[in-house]
Amino acid sequence: MAMILKPIGTHLILRRPKYTNPNIHSCKHKHHHRPLTAAFCSIHGPNSSSEDISLHQAQKMVNQFDPKVPIEEAVTPPSSWYKHPSFLELELHRVFYRGWQAVGHIQQIKDPHDFFTGRLGDVEFVVCRDDSGKIHAFHNVCRHHASLLASGSGQKSCFVCPYHAWTYGLDGHLVKATRIMGIQNFNVNEFGLIPIKVATWGPFILLNLDKRISPLREADSDTVADEWLGSCSEILSTNGVDSLLSYVCRREYTIECNWKVFCDNYLDGGYHVPYAHKGLAFGLQLQSYSTTIFENVSIQSCEGGTMERKDEYDRLGSKALYAFVYPNFMINRYGPWMDTNLVLPLGPRKCKVVFDYFIEASRKGTFSAHNLFRNVGQNQEKKRIAMYPNELNLFSPHRRMTKLS
Ligand code: FES
Repeated sequence: MAMILKPIGTHLILRRPKYTNPNIHSCKHKHHHRPLTAAFCSIHGPNSSSEDISLHQAQKMVNQFDPKVPIEEAVTPPSSWYKHPSFLELELHRVFYRGWQAVGHIQQIKDPHDFFTGRLGDVEFVVCRDDSGKIHAFHNVCRHHASLLASGSGQKSCFVCPYHAWTYGLDGHLVKATRIMGIQNFNVNEFGLIPIKVATWGPFILLNLDKRISPLREADSDTVADEWLGSCSEILSTNGVDSLLSYVCRREYTIECNWKVFCDNYLDGGYHVPYAHKGLAFGLQLQSYSTTIFENVSIQSCEGGTMERKDEYDRLGSKALYAFVYPNFMINRYGPWMDTNLVLPLGPRKCKVVFDYFIEASRKGTFSAHNLFRNVGQNQEKKRIAMYPNELNLFSPHRRMTKLS
């Protein structure tokens, strides 16, 4: 499998480390694990810098992890996985630029001429719906001098480049190139926008940036479901993750931490909930918390509480389902609500988290974005976000790798 990070147990790791000695600084095992030990000595040594580690070295660190080590003996990934630019580069190329990635939801482009833009790693993209209702995705780069073509979201009948006004249709073809009279051998058909493979699953829009696949061949919906969610596709559909939900609002947060810190926290199987989210813990029966691992998805579920403060936690309903979709997308379904968390890496130690909120159509009038954030959501969300800026002291010199949780 070519993926780097997979949900295993309740934590995000690819493989379990071959070594069991957490005191990696001591380099005691140089004869047995020389490449890994050498890398860590270099990382943590007084003269080390992030430049010391090349992409090749990042790959070497990944290769040191052994899936055969039982989960009971596994330790957390080293801090170098979370802070070195070369490691992020490797993740972009091996994780984010391969396979399906959630980038938005269909209500962002529900009508012809709707569009939205975004960025994944170094790739700027634009997604739109053309006159006939067909969804397209393109690299958001003008074919003339590479200006960013569109920004934000909204409605457009065509994309006009802000630099020299080359104009593209919503199907990507070049409609007009200004003042090119006299230019020899210029074929407009060769200067359309570069397409990206796009598909939908339920309420979500997915892109696939893999250069090895043809972006033009229409994606078959069953294949997409299988590739993105594996056998979980049906479980999510039958648990109310569907396109009938009404969109409510979006909140975005930029956090000073590696993108995996957010994902790790999500995947700790409720371990932190009784301590970090005491209020939420009142609304859940934590003894019923369970985690089930599938190919690309980890599903955590928990029964809702029956306590006296029910009115305060009514938003949770009787059952909560938390699905983590590899590598960075979370779907939370509880009561009449669904929210999604999309974690976008912005650098080794910075990420953006996009929260989108949906509600069952029949309840749309009963909850507004205002009371959503007055209720449990705002407090929990603020606490969730507040936990991350210090990256949980992941880079403290006193930090050691520890047992998984
Ligand atoms: S860069 Fe877009 S028209 Fe020149």
